[in-house]
Amino acid sequence: MTMGTDAGIVSENINLFCAGMGLVTRPRMTMDVPAIKKLLKLSDSQVPLLNNPVGYAK
Ligand SMILES: Cc1cc2nc3c(=O)[nH]c(=O)nc-3n(C[C@H](O)[C@H](O)[C@H](O)COP(=O)(O)O)c2cc1C
Repeated sequence: MTMGTDAGIVSENINLFCAGMGLVTRPRMTMDVPAIKKLLKLSDSQVPLLNNPVGYAK
């Protein structure tokens, strides 16, 4: 499935960026999909698959 591959590549790029900048992140597939769709004004054909919360390392 192309969109799953795309989402994985984007998530991995966020992981690599965070590692390079001294930040921490984790890929997550759980999220409040209706709230995210409303917040980002996504259309019915746009589906949130992954999210990467980002924070400072302890
Ligand atoms: C594709 C993918 C989706 C994930 N989704 C979730 C998720 O929805 N919730 C969650 O707690 N961990 C999820 N994880 C696992 C976290 O990214 C992380 O590895 C896990 O929380 C352990 O973190 P820790 O190493 O800080 O203990 C997912 C991992 C992958 C690879």
